[in-house]
Amino acid sequence: MPSLVVVGTYWGDEGKGKITDFLADKADIVVRYQGGNNAGHTIQNKNKTYKLHFIPSGILHPNTMCVLGNGMVIDPVELVSEMEQLSDAGVETDNLRVSDRAHLILPYHKLLDGLSEERRGPNKIGTTRKGIGPAYMDKAARCGLRIVDLLNPKELEQRLSENIRDKNMLLQRYYDVPGLDEKAVLASLLEAADKLRPFIDDTSALINDALDQGKYIVFEGAQATLLDIDHGTYPFVTASNPVAGGVCIGAGVGPTKIDKVMGLVKAYTSRVGDGPFPTEIFDETADIIRERGKEFGTTTGRPRRVGWLDGVILRYARRVSGLDALCITLLDVLSGMEEIKICTHYELDGQRTDRFPASVSSLGRCNPVYETLPGWDQDISDCKNWEDLPANAQAYIHFIEELAGAPVAIVSVGPGREQTINVREI
Ligand code: IMP
Repeated sequence: MPSLVVVGTYWGDEGKGKITDFLADKADIVVRYQGGNNAGHTIQNKNKTYKLHFIPSGILHPNTMCVLGNGMVIDPVELVSEMEQLSDAGVETDNLRVSDRAHLILPYHKLLDGLSEERRGPNKIGTTRKGIGPAYMDKAARCGLRIVDLLNPKELEQRLSENIRDKNMLLQRYYDVPGLDEKAVLASLLEAADKLRPFIDDTSALINDALDQGKYIVFEGAQATLLDIDHGTYPFVTASNPVAGGVCIGAGVGPTKIDKVMGLVKAYTSRVGDGPFPTEIFDETADIIRERGKEFGTTTGRPRRVGWLDGVILRYARRVSGLDALCITLLDVLSGMEEIKICTHYELDGQRTDRFPASVSSLGRCNPVYETLPGWDQDISDCKNWEDLPANAQAYIHFIEELAGAPVAIVSVGPGREQTINVREI
């Protein structure tokens, strides 16, 4: 059985939650390897909708283990609350494992995330304000606290105290807001620590043992290629590495252990947060797509920006993650459109280009060049097989395959598990 990485090709929200849930049926372990509760995965099962932020989308499968890898940043209080919400909804979380090496998101990270966004004013990044960036900053500055520290209250108290002293200075003197109460923060951490203790493990060892036993592992990327801190539209990015290479660092597995990488491609493009977006559309087609695709952030509720599918980004995502196959999601949203546009390349300062530029100002000057394809009228949300799809929908998918240089393995035509068409094995 292969190990498979599932990664978003654009700016996130490509439907990774649904597809990981679908793949988790066969998976022994589903692993998240980066990010935190900035992610929001919506899964629909038996008429119930679940919104997950930290917990991998495999959790609805009682026989699948779910791992929060070392590359994640975790707010222990919020994680416990998400586990309790799932429990209340009748979903067991016994199969959850949390890396002892993952870094903690602490109350000062959340405060500083919001305050630094406000300070940036019109140049804000549009973060989720969950403290993700500041937590990764502390990781790089070597003053972060980790999950393993929750198991050692004395050391936790001492290091937390040093950090709060420094952060309070920043909060009070630079941002002119009240500081944090060290005792209250410690108490909430210790309470969460008691609840998380049974789930904490050396997850790299666990994953590698499973790989050695030939088990099937799905690595679930959160956010996506263009939000990657190295390969994304910097500075309008998150603070981690969602691209497939992030798995090695964030789950503690060698590159030789990754068999396949699947890129998730929404049938159109969306973006939440600020920054350039060449194929963005603003007309009534955008409103239709936004309404039909329920394009409102799971984490923040913000309306998402939407646009046509962008082939330049698709090829870029294939390159930086080495995509073996694609999964097209939300194809049903485009039903009823007379025609569908797809960007094949850009024009930048009068020159044709196939390359995705490094600088956001260059990206802002890129004009998309479109090919227009005929749409289809039929409602495709009940299609079960490739043959059931209208010829124009099949032609659209073939066009995407050609453009990306990678075959399509799965097509999703609705939020339900059964609304998933297996085109070919990956
Ligand atoms: P942060 O990850 O909260 O620091 O936000 C940085 C950028 O990533 C912002 O533009 C966010 O809107 C975006 N972002 C973070 N997580 C997600 C996600 O799960 N889906 C889509 N965008 C995200």
